[in-house]
Amino acid sequence: MARLKIAVLISGRGSNMQALIEACSTEDAPAEIALVLSNVPDAAGLKFAEQNGIPTVTIDHRKFSERDSFEQKISSCLVDAKIELVCLAGFMRLLTAGFVDTWRDRLINIHPSLLPAFKGLDTHARVIAEGARFSGCTVHFVRSEMDSGPIIIQAAVPVALDDDADSLARRVLEAEHRIYPQALRLIAEGRVTVDNDLVRIEGARTPASSVINPDIGLEGQNPAPTTFTAMETRNHGD
Ligand code: GRF
Repeated sequence: MARLKIAVLISGRGSNMQALIEACSTEDAPAEIALVLSNVPDAAGLKFAEQNGIPTVTIDHRKFSERDSFEQKISSCLVDAKIELVCLAGFMRLLTAGFVDTWRDRLINIHPSLLPAFKGLDTHARVIAEGARFSGCTVHFVRSEMDSGPIIIQAAVPVALDDDADSLARRVLEAEHRIYPQALRLIAEGRVTVDNDLVRIEGARTPASSVINPDIGLEGQNPAPTTFTAMETRNHGD
């Protein structure tokens, strides 16, 4: 079966791009990274892509007076390379509705929070400032509002009581490197559909249990949780 042709758009380090390249390097991978595109000429990720024999292109946004012409240039590169799916991976330019609509349901992004919570920048510092017990990361189809769009896959990452933004970022990043290749695989295998702006996934399971943070050592000691009937559950939830 033909492999889905992917472009990864980066602006910097490119560790998620690296995870995608590595995931696509096996013989049975259903996708191939056909292009890495950066808006920053010396983005560190470009080197890794080149060393792995992946075509790269730099389109420096500073050379364009209009956002539209910058995006048109990107789109024409993607079309020339016959790209079927675009993965944003730390691409630090906001994309206009025109671009997003052109690539609708063929454009995905990874964001380092459990969307729709903590959209935007500095997510880890804000998660800690709010005292949230869980953070995580999300891969989603892109819509024109920032960090929004149908969610494909998420990983929940417990926030440690002594976390700072850097330590939390490190653990979330490890989870990012796991879920982005999984999202790509799901799409490349044709298991993802977007219906009414919600994602449906063929043949996926939901983990059976919940996770409690902090763990105060009582799990396993408590009597088994009461099973409520539907009506009782509704009352308790109100
Ligand atoms: C990641 O945290 C990603 O979630 C966010 O930007 C960061 C990019 O990191 N969108 P990298 O360039 O993939 O290492």
